[in-house]
Amino acid sequence: MQSDAPSNPPRHVAIVMDGNGRWATSRGLPRPAGHQAGVETVRRVVEAAPRLGIETLTLYAFSSDNWRRPTAEVAALMALLRRFVRAETGRLAQAGARVTMLGRRDRLPAGLAAEIAAAEQATASGTKLHLRVALDYSARDAILDAARRAAALPQLTREAFSRLLSGGDHAAEPVPDVDLLIRTGGEQRLSDFLLWECAYAELLFVPCLWPDFSAGGLADAVAWYAARERRFGGVGAASAASPAPAVAAVPSAA
Ligand code: IPE
Ligand code: IPE
Ligand code: MG
Repeated sequence: MQSDAPSNPPRHVAIVMDGNGRWATSRGLPRPAGHQAGVETVRRVVEAAPRLGIETLTLYAFSSDNWRRPTAEVAALMALLRRFVRAETGRLAQAGARVTMLGRRDRLPAGLAAEIAAAEQATASGTKLHLRVALDYSARDAILDAARRAAALPQLTREAFSRLLSGGDHAAEPVPDVDLLIRTGGEQRLSDFLLWECAYAELLFVPCLWPDFSAGGLADAVAWYAARERRFGGVGAASAASPAPAVAAVPSAA
C-alpha cells in the first residue's frame, strides 16, 4: 500500500462530520439525503486514513443532543447507521480496521446495539486503523460516567481516567489523545465532542460541507497539522535554541 503520510502525521484524528443537512437543503433535497451522501464521505475518509499515517480515527456520527431532531430525521439516521454496519463490517475487517463505538447503547433502536457489538467482535483483530464511531455521544456525560467509575480506583491518574473515558476499564489499552480535530460545515465549536481528549488538539474548521469532503481534504488537513508547532505549554524550537534564563522559571513548591 502506498503511503502519503508526512513525517509526523497525527496519530489520532477526530472529525465532527457536519453540514449534511445544509448540503441537502441547498439542493432542494430532504435532510436525510444529505446524511446518505455523507456515508460515502465516511467510506472515502476511512479508506484514506491509514495511507496518511493516521492510527486512530474518531467520527462524530450522532450526538446525545441530536435526539432533539425531528423523529423522521432521527429514524433515517439510525437506519443509515444500521445499513452502514451491515454493509461495511466485512470490508472493514478485510482492510484491517478495528471498529469500536463510544457513547450510550441503551437508547438505540432495537437490535442496533447487538449489531454494533457483533461488528466490534468481527473487526477486533484489525491493526491498520482503529475506527471509533461516536453514537449517542456526549463528552460531558462520558466524563461524568468515567468519574463515577473512577471513584472505585485506588489511585486515579490522568492515564487511568483516559482509559475509563474511552470506554474500557482502568487497565484497558489507552487511546491516544486527539492530535487533530477537524470540523466540516464551517461552525467553530465542539458541540460536546471529546472535551477531555482534545486538551492539546490542533483544531481545524473547514467550510466544506461533509458530503463534499474528500480524501484530498483529509490529506490537506494532515499536511496542515504536520506544519504546526505543538508546544504543550513549553517554548517553541526557536526560543529553546536561545540561552537559558539565569533564574529558574518554574515556581518552587517551597
Ligand atoms: C451532521 O450534519 C450530521 C449529524 C448531526 C448527524 P447536520 O445534519 O448537522 O447538518 P447541518 O449542520 O444541519 O447542515
Ligand atoms: C455535531 O453537529 C454532531 C455531529 C456532527 C454528529 P450538530 O450539527 O449537531 O452541532 P450543533 O447543533 O450545530 O452545535
Ligand atoms: Mg449540524
